Amino acid sequence: MNKRIAVLPGDGIGPEIVAGAVKILQTIETLYGHQFELTYADIGGCATDKTGTPLPNETITICKNSDAILLGAVGGPKWDSLPVEKRPEQGLLKIRKALNLFANLRPTTCYESLAESSPLKKDIIEGVDLIVVRELTGGIYFGTPSERREIDGKPGAVDTLQYKNEEIERVIEKAFEVAKTRSKKITSVDKANVLETSRVWREIANQVAEKYPDVLLEHMLVDNAAMQLIRNPKQFDVIVTENMFGDILSDEASVLTGSLGMLASSSLSEEGPYLYEPIHGSAPDIAGENIANPLATILSTSMMLRLSFQLDKEATVIEEAVNNVLNKGYRTRDILSPNCKIVSTNDMVEAVNKEIFELVASTHAI
Ligand code: IPM
Ligand code: MG
Repeated sequence: MNKRIAVLPGDGIGPEIVAGAVKILQTIETLYGHQFELTYADIGGCATDKTGTPLPNETITICKNSDAILLGAVGGPKWDSLPVEKRPEQGLLKIRKALNLFANLRPTTCYESLAESSPLKKDIIEGVDLIVVRELTGGIYFGTPSERREIDGKPGAVDTLQYKNEEIERVIEKAFEVAKTRSKKITSVDKANVLETSRVWREIANQVAEKYPDVLLEHMLVDNAAMQLIRNPKQFDVIVTENMFGDILSDEASVLTGSLGMLASSSLSEEGPYLYEPIHGSAPDIAGENIANPLATILSTSMMLRLSFQLDKEATVIEEAVNNVLNKGYRTRDILSPNCKIVSTNDMVEAVNKEIFELVASTHAI
């Protein structure tokens, strides 16, 4: 198979973890006889430094001409005091909008070997397997006005939470499609006791549900959902929610599994290309030290192989390799547990790489 992949390493630990994931992609390429043509492009603070904008037009063009996009992370204190339009996060928000990536899938699965790294008790998190479907191109992240202004004659600021019905409908549809392939239960999270956008969200969820009689829909208020995720995460399968609630709940869900450093995500549009990125940030405090966890980015490439290229066998081999490496006790610092082997970013990539070769040689007919 021949595919073009845009690679956007970004800032902080982005370049290190993306380099690791690219190495794994190249191994898959060699072992399974594919050709992945990689085109690198800038996004985030490094793009602002080079071009004055966190999302140069060239990057958008490269992404649009690709079959899939792999992104590392953006941001860092160096750019925190810049005007809003030059800040790294704007690059991320703009690429989501430019490519119409309205549905962000953030799965959380509990690795047995990492149960001890979770701040929660083992019996609460063992067997957790849920996915947050987050609306990604609307809501308060993109509503206008968003500015400082006087409120009742006093200095203040305003952000705007707005949704078109069609924006709500398409992401809820996507979540139902995901639910159909899983345990057929979906929790729609909102704040319908306070917000009008949430009341409309709830109505639309009920309408969409009529098309999926075999999927069970429940509604939950976001404050309760935040509590239930800690109290009894196993009750959830698919959670669908608006942009900011999804941002917050997906970070919360991620620590159930031990570390933010483990979680991959995919962002989907109607037509593609889709974008894949770890859900963690650029961790500027540990950038360049070769200690970051590359697994979330490696797992993002396995999502890419599965969702964008339908390469299920190749995706599975990556996931199994990651699982085996964890079972063998390899750990980056964010997922330390007693009696484990502390390894660097590069060592972790090497361990996964070696495991892939071994798995392919022993169990997987190519
Ligand atoms: C995420 C991040 C981004 C977001 C930031 C970096 C703009 O937190 O992808 O979850 O809020 O969407
Ligand atoms: Mg976030």
